[in-house]
Amino acid sequence: MKVAIFGLGYVGFTAMCCIASEGSSVIGIDVSERKVQEIRSKKPPIVEPGLADLLVDGVDAGRIRASTEIGGELDDTDLAIVCVGTPSAPDGSHNMDYIANVARQIAEAVKRGGAREVPLAVAFRSTVRPGTMEELVWPIFEMVLGEAAARDVEIVYNPEFLREGSAVKDYFAPPKIVLGTRDGAPNAAMEALNANIEAPVFVTRYREAEITKFVDNTWHAVKVTFANEIGRACLNLGISAQKVHEIFVSDTKLNISPYYMRPGGAFGGSCLPKDVRALQYLAADSGAAVQLVDSLLRSNEAHKHRLFEYAVEGLAPGARILLAGVAFKAGTDDLRESPNVDLARKLLAAGFDLEIFDPAVDASKLIGANLGYVYKTLPALQKILVGKERAEAGGYDRVIAANATVKALALADGVDIRDIGSLP
Ligand SMILES: NC(=O)c1ccc[n+]([C@@H]2O[C@H](COP(=O)([O-])OP(=O)(O)OC[C@H]3O[C@@H](n4cnc5c(N)ncnc54)[C@H](O)[C@@H]3O)[C@@H](O)[C@H]2O)c1
Repeated sequence: MKVAIFGLGYVGFTAMCCIASEGSSVIGIDVSERKVQEIRSKKPPIVEPGLADLLVDGVDAGRIRASTEIGGELDDTDLAIVCVGTPSAPDGSHNMDYIANVARQIAEAVKRGGAREVPLAVAFRSTVRPGTMEELVWPIFEMVLGEAAARDVEIVYNPEFLREGSAVKDYFAPPKIVLGTRDGAPNAAMEALNANIEAPVFVTRYREAEITKFVDNTWHAVKVTFANEIGRACLNLGISAQKVHEIFVSDTKLNISPYYMRPGGAFGGSCLPKDVRALQYLAADSGAAVQLVDSLLRSNEAHKHRLFEYAVEGLAPGARILLAGVAFKAGTDDLRESPNVDLARKLLAAGFDLEIFDPAVDASKLIGANLGYVYKTLPALQKILVGKERAEAGGYDRVIAANATVKALALADGVDIRDIGSLP
């Protein structure tokens, strides 16, 4: 295939060399005359293992060319890949100037070329904020091409996951391929481009693809920060950070795994909040500042409140609500620090007519810390707990499914159920 690449920095130049090495013909376009000259004279404009040889091979075979101008290059091109920079703007957002400029340049080149037999696939690989394809890029193409835009171009968002230092290896073995398209359907040119790359492929709509890179990079930052916070607490406490790390990462069942990692319920129960507080204390007592760990309980409280808002969305105070599940886990009566107890408290305080169904909980049998917690947090519990028959009789404006307890109920079709254990 013939590919045009816009922006010959780390991402674009790597893509250029790797794609050419697979036999495709690549024209690279950059506003920097110096970069273009270097590529033409087989000098890599960036230092990255493996690229120098691929460049020499590509130029010698006539598969790599570079220019500062698009000219008529796009007329017989199957795929354009945009890799221009998106540096930070002063407010922390990305500066979209280069993206907007290159979108306009490509649209104008397509217009000059006239109607196309096959639409040009334009894949944006630069990191851009969600909404960029729909609110910036597509309007530019429509402004330049009018109605022909829908016929002549297909915009794809394809985030880049390579790491500098291992860019060539990462190009051919990425952790995943993410493709965002207007309707979430696959794109033929991208399928052809990635035919020889083995990786899980996710085809989705633009916005999910656009946010992927921010989520990944922020998670990586969380990992580094968490490891370092534990490291410096260990350092202060005379504990081997290396040994603790080794034990921690060896647990791929609960620690380094998708467990405890899905958007939905808040954390709670008798262990997590207590032990997070204890680690905060241990670290502070040793003189180690652990800002990330310190933020966890506050973030969890914020999440509980957002779940309350989500649970009552569209309901006016006074509405009849059934909360299915009040214990932290279905089938248990441990109410200590259950986020569902907090939710019930918030529902009552906001004036909702609340009843609770949780067959594992018998308020008259609670003892010890469990009783103490409920007594001070939700004193009305005994009065508002209802049995299965009443819960199923209906008449509620909404049933809030707080845990798997809801499965014990045979609810009539059409009952408004809101599952707060899993965000949509
Ligand atoms: N560097 C990485 O490791 C990496 C990894 C993943 C994603 N990204 C993202 O990819 C994008 C590119 O990153 P990079 O590190 O390659 O940037 P870079 O600054 O090294 O290269 C960008 C290139 O785009 C060129 N350019 C600007 N406007 C242009 C235009 N109108 N036409 C043609 N060329 C133009 C610049 O001259 C420059 O050579 C960024 O959004 C970045 O966040 C980078």
